Amino acid sequence: MKKCMKYWPLYVIGVLVSWTSFAAESENYDAAAAYQTSCFACHGTGQAHAPVVGDVIEWEIRAEKGMETLVQNTINGLNGIMPARGLCADCSDEQLRAIVEYMLEESK
Ligand code: HEC
Repeated sequence: MKKCMKYWPLYVIGVLVSWTSFAAESENYDAAAAYQTSCFACHGTGQAHAPVVGDVIEWEIRAEKGMETLVQNTINGLNGIMPARGLCADCSDEQLRAIVEYMLEESK
C-alpha cells in the first residue's frame, strides 16, 4: 500500500494528460461537419432567407455586429426565423461558436 502512494504524482500527471487531450479534442471539433449537419439546410441554400455561407457582403455586414452578438443570436435564435441553436440541440455554446467562426471563415 505504501508503495502505491509513492506513485501518486504519476496519477496526477495521468489525470492532467487525459484532461489536456480532452481539451485538444474539443479544439479539433469538426465545425465543418457540424455545419453540414445542422446549418447547411438553411445557410447553404438561402432557405428562409438565411445568409448564405460564401456570400462575402452578407457576412461582412453580420460580422460588424461582433462575434459575441453573432454567437448569442445563434444560441437564442434571431427574428423567429433563425432557430435557437440552429436546431442543433446537442451543440454546446463553444461548439456553436466554432461553427459561426467556420461560417465567417468560409465567407471571406
Ligand atoms: C431553419 C433555417 C436555419 C437553420 C437550420 C440555421 N439557421 Fe442560422 N439563420 C437563419 C436565418 C433565416 C437567419 C437570418 C435571420 C435574420 O437576419 O433575421 C440566420 C442567421 C444566422 C446568423 C447571423 C446572426 C446575426 O446576428 O446576424 C448566424 C451566425 C447563424 N444563423 C448561425 C447558424 C448556425 C451556426 C446554424 C447551425 C448550428 C444555423 N444558423 C442554422 C436560418 C437558419
